[in-house]
Amino acid sequence: MKTLPERLLFPNARISKERLEKAIHGKTIVITGASYGIGEELAMLFSGYNVHLILIARTEEKLQALANSIKANKSKCIIIAADLYQESEVDRVIEKLKSLPGGIDIFISNAGKSITRPLADSLNRYHDFTRTNSLNYLAPVKLLLAATPLLKANKGQIINISAMNVLLLPAPEWAAYQASKTAFDQWFRSNLAEWRVMGILAKTIYLPLVRTRMIAPNENYKNYPAMPPQQAAIRIARLLCSSSTCSKPWWAIFPQTGSFFGRYIWEKWSYYHLRKRNGDSI
Ligand SMILES: NC(=O)c1ccc[n+]([C@@H]2O[C@H](COP(=O)([O-])OP(=O)(O)OC[C@H]3O[C@@H](n4cnc5c(N)ncnc54)[C@H](OP(=O)(O)O)[C@@H]3O)[C@@H](O)[C@H]2O)c1
Repeated sequence: MKTLPERLLFPNARISKERLEKAIHGKTIVITGASYGIGEELAMLFSGYNVHLILIARTEEKLQALANSIKANKSKCIIIAADLYQESEVDRVIEKLKSLPGGIDIFISNAGKSITRPLADSLNRYHDFTRTNSLNYLAPVKLLLAATPLLKANKGQIINISAMNVLLLPAPEWAAYQASKTAFDQWFRSNLAEWRVMGILAKTIYLPLVRTRMIAPNENYKNYPAMPPQQAAIRIARLLCSSSTCSKPWWAIFPQTGSFFGRYIWEKWSYYHLRKRNGDSI
């Protein structure tokens, strides 16, 4: 049940069956990070149509269970269990994608990892940065470099599942996640026009907080307004069907405007907030 702030911030989005059918009928759709959360919801949404789903994640038994329920619907499905932290696993996924007889029509880059950790607790955790970068930035770069000729042949689409934070001023304790998501966003947007020339449409959705496994460890988020993952999936499907290259919440303009004008205030506020939280006298 959505709270009042959730109803205002995340009003129910809908997509007509006919519209989605027209956009995806007969298409081969790759979804990375399909075993849980937003990727799983998206796979379930598409499974009601005549599509060929290629689902990628680490947890094989979860992918298999999802594939079984998907095959009971209209679509065909292949699962690829792979750990995208490992470059050799990314290469194995690429070989499988290249061997698909009909190529790829739609690539949804969704697999991701989030970390919130204070700098003081990160001093011996360089691996937080290599891991977030390998999954949130380098793996999708490598996959999309390989997928580009396949998508070009089918005049396909790419969707980047990004985060609202990427559009805002950086926040304390989010360095690993924020840097990796922003790096991929920059890489992705740098290529938009070049992909367009090849006949590939590339689009980004900047999601707010979504109530999935990813945010569960953070106690604070239990009381924050968050979008249900089913609604995130519908918004991704709507972006897929539209000619727009970007989707974000209706209210994103307010924090974005604040970020544009408010760097000095934000940095001061962050400093005082951390000192107060740590019990230091100001
Ligand atoms: N939840 C939010 O508040 C939020 C907000 C903005 C943007 N996003 C973005 O939305 C995307 C999906 O997140 P979610 O909320 O749905 O999180 P989630 O429920 O934790 O799902 C993450 C997916 O990525 C897969 N994954 C994680 N590590 C992997 C690895 N090393 N190799 C292959 N697959 C891996 C997971 O599967 P396995 O564990 O089985 O590998 C899972 O299917 C992410 O890119 C995230 O940055 C989320």
